Amino acid sequence: MVFANKKSPVYMMGAFECIASNIQNQGAIEKAFETGEGVHWSDQPGCLFCGIAEFFRPGYLTNLVNGWLPALDGVVQKLESGASIADVGCGHGISTVMMAEAFPNSMFVGYDFHEASILSARAHAKEHGVEANTRFEVASATQFNGEGSYDLVCSFDCLHDMGDPQGASAHVRDSLKEDGTWMIVEPMADDRLEGNLNPVGRLFYSASTMVCVPTSLAQEVGAALGAQAGEAKLRDVISSGGFSKVRRATETPFNMILEARA
Ligand SMILES: C[S@@+](CC[C@H](N)C(=O)[O-])C[C@H]1O[C@@H](n2cnc3c(N)ncnc32)[C@H](O)[C@@H]1O
Repeated sequence: MVFANKKSPVYMMGAFECIASNIQNQGAIEKAFETGEGVHWSDQPGCLFCGIAEFFRPGYLTNLVNGWLPALDGVVQKLESGASIADVGCGHGISTVMMAEAFPNSMFVGYDFHEASILSARAHAKEHGVEANTRFEVASATQFNGEGSYDLVCSFDCLHDMGDPQGASAHVRDSLKEDGTWMIVEPMADDRLEGNLNPVGRLFYSASTMVCVPTSLAQEVGAALGAQAGEAKLRDVISSGGFSKVRRATETPFNMILEARA
């Protein structure tokens, strides 16, 4: 299941690809430690992007449509009857395509600032025959289109990678309809360092050092939340954008799913 069954929730080949690309990128990260300038996402080795898509896919396959979306207040009903959704920081569009397949009456737009990922997302949507209700555009989380037009905005494992997560939060708030929802999927983490010194926390801290923190530092603001930011810090960032209600809608051993509403 770990090596061969792509549909298994414990399929881990994506993690091996990520680790291989981390090793390949060690020199750039070492230099970033000296300069403090970070490493831009597009300067990571090519196989990292496929590795990440592959790493998260089993979790999304197991949880997204059956667990995470139903945990949000009133969202599935809207998706079934026809809603407008943005998947911000969509990467290869794995989550976008899964939702588009499950909710054919709804329209899904994937945004990411990494052009190569958007090209892969378009190809992925074509492969799955969901071109009619998906669109993918190169845009940053603080600049994507959609003033007051979305019923749901999703951010899967990317808020902590952003240079300006507070700016992103304010922009998501502006892009939502008044009764819209922002679903934020972030790695599970305790608010205290000592609460994360377990095997999973250590793995996330390592990935954060090699990818997430340098990615954020290479952008404007450079907030560098890291992959183990913890719920308290994430709530502060989300609330700062104008969301008054933030709750943990559900969780898995690896993810917390936060629901933010105006
Ligand atoms: C860890 S990957 C997750 C990708 C995808 N959401 C998934 O779950 O497979 C983080 C993504 O955030 C994107 N990203 C980082 N900073 C961004 C920003 N400021 N605006 C838009 N996308 C950003 C990266 O390009 C990358 O695709």
